[in-house]
Parts: sequence; C-alpha cells; structure tokens
Amino acid sequence: LHVIHIAAEMAPVAKVGGLGDVVTGLGKALQKRGHLVEIVLPKYDCMQYECIRDLRALDVVLESYFDGRLFKNKVWVGIVEGLPVYFIEPHHPGNFFWRGEVYGEHDDFKRFSFFSRAALELLFQAGKKPDIIHCHDWQTAFVAPLYWDLYAPKGLNSARICFTCHNFEYQGSAPASELASCGLDVHQLNRPDRMQDNSAHDRINPVKGAIVFSNIVTTVSPTYAQEVRTAEQGRGLHVTLNSHAKKFIGILNGIDTDVWNPAADTSLKVQYSANDLQGKAENKEAIRRHLGLSSADVRQPLVGCITRLVPQKGVHLIRHAIYRTMELGGQFVLLGSSPVPHIQREFEEIANHFQSHKHVRLILKYDESLSHLIFAASDMFIIPSIFEPCGLTQMIAMKYGSVPIARKTGGLNDSVFDVDDDTIPPQFRNGFTFLSPDEQGVNSALERALNHYKNNSRSWQELVEKVMRIDFSWDSSASLYEELYEKSVTRARSARS
Ligand code: ADP
Ligand code: GLC
Repeated sequence: LHVIHIAAEMAPVAKVGGLGDVVTGLGKALQKRGHLVEIVLPKYDCMQYECIRDLRALDVVLESYFDGRLFKNKVWVGIVEGLPVYFIEPHHPGNFFWRGEVYGEHDDFKRFSFFSRAALELLFQAGKKPDIIHCHDWQTAFVAPLYWDLYAPKGLNSARICFTCHNFEYQGSAPASELASCGLDVHQLNRPDRMQDNSAHDRINPVKGAIVFSNIVTTVSPTYAQEVRTAEQGRGLHVTLNSHAKKFIGILNGIDTDVWNPAADTSLKVQYSANDLQGKAENKEAIRRHLGLSSADVRQPLVGCITRLVPQKGVHLIRHAIYRTMELGGQFVLLGSSPVPHIQREFEEIANHFQSHKHVRLILKYDESLSHLIFAASDMFIIPSIFEPCGLTQMIAMKYGSVPIARKTGGLNDSVFDVDDDTIPPQFRNGFTFLSPDEQGVNSALERALNHYKNNSRSWQELVEKVMRIDFSWDSSASLYEELYEKSVTRARSARS
C-alpha cells in the first residue's frame, strides 16, 4: 500500500508529545512491512534540523488557496528516521510556522487549516495516488472534508481517509465562519450531521468533521475507545462516535524499539539488558550524582515521572506522590514542563523548595536525552493520569526495567496489570495500579510498590526482568492498521467495479 501521513508532529524533528512518537513509529513499522510510507509536515523554524538527512528544496512552487487567494509555498524533502518527509513552508504574511513553537499560538486554527489544504494540494499537484491518507488530531482533521469536497472530485480519488484521534480533549472547535478560509463551504458543513459542534450551533468542530468524513476512525487504545463513547468522557462527541461506531476502533500504540532500547541507547551512562542489570544500577548512581541526590543507599528506591504537566496527567496527584515518596523513604525525580502558566509556576515553587534536597529533584524543561537516563535510572515510574488515551511512558519505562505505577484508565488500563490482581493471568501482571483518582488511590499503589521493592528484592528483580521482556514494539499494532487499511481499500475497489 501507499500510505501518506499528514501530521503536525513527527519525532524526533518536531515532537511535543506522544503524537510525534506515533507518526514516526507507526510509519517505520508500516515501511518495514513493505508499504510505501511518506509523511507531510509543516516546516517549523523550531525543528531539530540535525535529525533530517538530505534536506533540499524542490524546484516547484506549490500554490495553495487560503482566505480567498493563492499563496506560494516552498516544498522541501528530506529523510527522517528512514522515512521520506515533505515539509511545507508557506509564503504567507502570517509566518505560520516561524513562531518558535509547534502549538499554542492564537491562530492555530488558521495555521493548521492552511497546512491541511496545502498538504492535499501537494499530493494533487505531485500526482500522488496514495491508497491511504492518514491524518492525526484536530490540526489535520480538515483533510477529511477537504478531500471529499474538493480533491476527490478533481481526481485525487484513489485514497481512503484514516483519521486517528490521539486525544479527544483537543477538538479545535472554532466559529463557523473560520472554516471558509481553507475553502470549505460553511453552509454545507455547519450542520448537525456534519461539522457543527455538538454544543454550539455557530461553531464547527474539525474532529467531528473527521469522524463524519473519514473511512476509518481510530483512537489509541481499546479502553479509551470505549470511554469516549460515554457521555462522561466523550467530550461532547460520544453521540457522533456512537453513530459512526462501525468505523471506529481503538488500537494500542506501540513504541519505537530502535529509539527505546536500553541495550543500545547512547544517552545512557551504561547500556544494559534484562540478562544483565548491573548497568541499570550504574545509571541510577550516575543520575543521582548528576542531580546531586544522595547515593548513600543503593537500595533506596528511585521513582521517576516524565510528563507534560497538564491536568490530564493528574498534576495534583504527581505533587502528592512526590511528598508521599519522600515520607516513605524513597527518592523522586520529575522531568516535565507545562504550557499552563499557573501549573508551571506551582511546580517551579516546588522545584525551588527542593533545590538542594537529597531525595527529590524537579527538572522543569523538555530534555530528550535526560528522559532516557531517567527511564533507565528509576526503579519505578508513576503515571497517575485522570484520563490517558494511550500513554507511552509506561511502556518505555517497562522497556528500561522501571516498574509502572499507573491509574487504571485508557491505554494504561490496556498495558499495566496489577501484580496483586488475581483476576489477571500471572504472566501478564507487570505493575501497580489504582482506580480512584485521588490521594488514597495513589497511596495504595505507591505504598505497595515501595514495600515490594524493599521487602522482596529477589521477586522485584524478577519483575524488572519480566517487564523488560514484554513486546511493546509496533509490530502487532501496525498489523492491525494494515488490516484496516486493506479492508477499506478492498471495499472501495469492489464498490467501484
Ligand atoms: P502525551 O502525548 O499525552 O504527552 P505520551 O505518554 O503519549 O503522553 O507521550 C509523551 C512523550 O513525550 C514520551 O515520549 C515522553 O518521554 C515525552 N516527554 C514528555 N515530557 C517530556 C520532557 N519534559 N522531556 C522529555 N521528554 C518528555
Ligand atoms: C496523546 C495522548 C497520549 C497518547 C499520545 C499518542 O498525546 O495524550 O495518551 O499516548 O497522544 O497517541
């Protein structure tokens, strides 16, 4: 199959969170399975340009429509992690992708509706005939209605559209009139069975539009797919999802095991594997020294946490876990940053409070290579999310032998199984879970984890070896996407013939 992903993020060149990891990891896994995979991204000023091989500008000028006129775009091509990528650089007075940030700008709706239209225009003008166009999250959700309204009639009609929603909290809802900028017909689309926001008649909702207009709709875990079909967790889209239930499915993400592999990870002090855990202890010693934490007791447990600090992640529970770990005699290392000013300020205060503490350290920034060292150095890893579509850090942590302590929600519920839960077959039990999203919930799992670590070092080591051997690679999830793509393509072909 020929699969083209249109996305706002791609690791490691433009990664904000897990979306970037997924676009690259899924793309690589599909490529390994013999498919032709290409990616289309905006050309941001803030990209990690050193991670792009053979970057060059194409001779052609790509013209795309926006706000009633045509704009010229420069198109670049390069190779990222072995995948061919097209980067679109608009010549628009708004300097859409020269902001020093991927997201969080006041005109994100304009920036990404512009990009969605330009990306389709690129496929059209380059004469591409993909079998699947796969778009991700609200930023590229516009692709689905744009494709059927404007590009399929023009002849770019070989493709099926797959839309993956990585987080239903972000839907990109905007005043209906905004939709006209990228050439969509507001009157046609601002209808309850199309793009109209389910809670405001004068607003349109890109994610809803993608659900309605895509052939395949996925989200990133089976449990989250069930959760979002309920009024409590559907964020206003449960009705839409239920009426399109036949094409909606949850597929658990994988992780890219070329990137996340403690036996070959050059960001670590010492590489190690499940067969030889000595290196893990050396990484723990290294990070303690690096961060100025006490190294007096090699058996003092180290709890790690690496996250965007947003309400979804249970920031108040993370804060509680820091204090509770300290009370229970453990050490805690948090690496995180927040786009929400008051949360960032709150954690800065906690960081200052613990500035020279021997057992707690907060590092409030985004730091890829430090994240690898923390995964490797920590004995356990806490993820107390209020909701979590999939979550990648629990899987990465396990790969590095850090045992997850997680709330049973979304993808965490599909990947972390409590060591004390008799209803789960013993071979699947791999961590400590809790259900209730409060301090008691956190305590119940954290205390069990710390006690297990302290009182039973032999069985802890067995648990570490076991979690490191679990297969979280993309292989099985990529085969599920492949199956969906193929079914959809076959259905379309037989409908045409
Ligand atoms: P989300 O996409 O909701 O942020 P995921 O668990 O799916 O959550 O993915 C988060 C990704 O971002 C992981 O690869 C994680 O290691 C990484 N990450 C999050 N915060 C930081 C940080 N401060 N520094 C480095 N990496 C981070
Ligand atoms: C979103 C979700 C996260 C998921 C990631 C990749 O950012 O918050 O749970 O793992 O997308 O799909």
